[in-house]
Amino acid sequence: MERRFFLFVLVGIKLNIAECGFYPEPDQSLRVPDGWLPAQRLSRTDPVILTFALRQQNVKKLEALVNVLSDPDSPHYGLFLSLEELRSLVQPSDETMRTVRTWLEKHGILNCDSIVTGDFLQCQTDARTAEELLPGARLVRYLKGDKSIVRSRSPYSLDPDVAPHIDFVGGLHRFPKEREVLRRAKGKQYEVTAGFHMGVTPSVLRQRYNLSASDVGTHPNNSQACAQFLEQYFHPADLSEFMTLFGKSFDHHLEVDHVVGDQGGGRAGLEASLDVEYIMSMGANISTWVFSNPGRHESQEPFLDWILLLSNMSSIPWIHTISYGDDEDSLSVAYMQRINVEFMKAAARGLTILFASGDDGAGCRQVSKDRNVFRPSFPASSPYVTTVGGTSFKNPFQVTYEVTDYISGGGFSNVFPMPDYQVSAVSEYFTSSVKMPPESYYNRSGRAYPDVAALSDNYWVVTNRVPIPWVSGTSASTPVFGGILALINDQRIKKGLSPLGFLNPALYRLRGNGTEALYDVTEGCHISCFDDVVLAQGFCASPSWDPVTGWGTPNYPELLKSLL
Ligand SMILES: *[C@@H]1O[C@H](CO)[C@@H](O)[C@H](O)[C@H]1NC(C)=O
Ligand SMILES: *[C@@H]1O[C@H](CO)[C@@H](O)[C@H](O)[C@H]1NC(C)=O
Ligand SMILES: *[C@@H]1O[C@H](CO)[C@@H](O)[C@H](O)[C@H]1NC(C)=O
Ligand SMILES: *[C@@H]1O[C@H](CO)[C@@H](O)[C@H](O)[C@H]1NC(C)=O
Ligand SMILES: *[C@@H]1O[C@H](CO)[C@@H](O)[C@H](O)[C@H]1NC(C)=O
Ligand SMILES: *[C@@H]1O[C@H](CO)[C@@H](O)[C@H](O)[C@H]1NC(C)=O
Repeated sequence: MERRFFLFVLVGIKLNIAECGFYPEPDQSLRVPDGWLPAQRLSRTDPVILTFALRQQNVKKLEALVNVLSDPDSPHYGLFLSLEELRSLVQPSDETMRTVRTWLEKHGILNCDSIVTGDFLQCQTDARTAEELLPGARLVRYLKGDKSIVRSRSPYSLDPDVAPHIDFVGGLHRFPKEREVLRRAKGKQYEVTAGFHMGVTPSVLRQRYNLSASDVGTHPNNSQACAQFLEQYFHPADLSEFMTLFGKSFDHHLEVDHVVGDQGGGRAGLEASLDVEYIMSMGANISTWVFSNPGRHESQEPFLDWILLLSNMSSIPWIHTISYGDDEDSLSVAYMQRINVEFMKAAARGLTILFASGDDGAGCRQVSKDRNVFRPSFPASSPYVTTVGGTSFKNPFQVTYEVTDYISGGGFSNVFPMPDYQVSAVSEYFTSSVKMPPESYYNRSGRAYPDVAALSDNYWVVTNRVPIPWVSGTSASTPVFGGILALINDQRIKKGLSPLGFLNPALYRLRGNGTEALYDVTEGCHISCFDDVVLAQGFCASPSWDPVTGWGTPNYPELLKSLL
């Protein structure tokens, strides 16, 4: 008997090893952001929503295709795919679908939604089933004020048989980003004299970027969008008051045409008000959409939900501006690489996706007691999006030339290698720039960002019916640049040309210098680590491209000419 018992135990151990799962995101940070406190383990029957990123087919082909479709020198430039064509390219293999479905059904998970491209499944289940399905996961409810969220406090694993078919499972780890991307300066007082402006408004921007009153959208099929993932709403009444105060000199729409998602009630958010008010002032008279994803369920990831929406809607705006970012080091590589493929999918359809570069300059991360490194931000660091940095006026109260806004996010990815389109621009920067931080602080071989910039300092925003001054951040420059690109799309569509799509290959081809399409920003440095080595200085602006303001800020008539 004893012998047999012993044998039994051995078999048990062996089985355990054989069943040892595969961890798809071993590097995903489990840090709970400040303010969130664990409340309790979920009870067995608590509802949970899991999002499965299914392994796609033809990712290499997709990448090669995007490079061709976005290259102005290619005969295939602008021959974008429809969502259905994209599905044929990337949808998971039958084997992947069968394996994952069988696995889910075996656990009694039957309530799943797919999307048009077939490469995500979103399933409703309960906490007990989720923990059995994903060994290692321990679902906990976290509270912060009146908000609650469900996440796993430990890493999840996958059955080794399904692991090759799933890139990652969403809804378990990443907390919604809550950092206010915007800053508000307090208590600045200046004497205001004739000829001076009192902060950035649409007319100041339109003057600086050379938009005339007639530079508004005219094509009924053109459209633009901004996206929100915080619990932030814009109020139609704020938009209309903003336009009454600041929109007299140009034709514009008075309303947002589509709100996709949950527009919620409650107080308006500064960020949401800013996005809508400025994209509609630059891309004036262009139909505007707002994607609002506050996270409908406590186990969802709002940003990921937006990614799914993009691939589940066949007809959406050409331009998307997003003020959202996370530290690269807080995310798993598997997650970032898959999201990067989602940006390639958007590029293949001719969508232009713009992200704010962030408001922490080069950023800073302590790697050991006396060693710091810069801290790149994602998705700003994705090679398949256009990243927008920030500037301020040299003289803050005159429409003069622009200098670096010291908060403008920029640097080099530790995850994504440098794409071909920027190699020569960046190497020129390396050879010509004199004030470089030590190489130990950043990764010279990584994707360098931002790509472009616009004013990010001293904006006026109307929120909750009150005009508010001194609003700053790359969340402001991003919808401004996006609106200008939407005007260029308007002219392109009118001429029977394709929309711009993924802009970077065309942008880097302009080579800054040779054209006046962008105002080169050459003054100022952004912030970084407050330590004895770099003394808070990150990278500095320099002639042509630099990792602080990219190629610079838009000169609309010239940019239009060179992109037509
Ligand atoms: C995708 O769209 C279809 C049709 O509108 C819908 O039934 C489905 O639930 C959507 N998928 C997700 C994951 O929301
Ligand atoms: C743009 O405006 C500036 C002054 O704001 C002016 O010097 C420049 O000539 C203009 N450029 C174009 C192409 O209109
Ligand atoms: C505004 O756009 C519409 C099409 O959406 C167009 O008919 C109209 O002429 C535009 N307004 C101006 C002032 O160009
Ligand atoms: C707008 O799009 C619709 C549907 O694709 C098309 O039928 C119509 O001709 C387009 N309008 C213009 C002015 O191109
Ligand atoms: C630097 O970036 C490359 C990708 O370009 C990456 O493979 C490498 O691991 C990065 N190095 C560090 C130290 O993060
Ligand atoms: C940019 O202009 C400078 C000075 O005019 C010139 O030396 C440099 O070669 C130009 N660079 C490019 C890429 O055209």
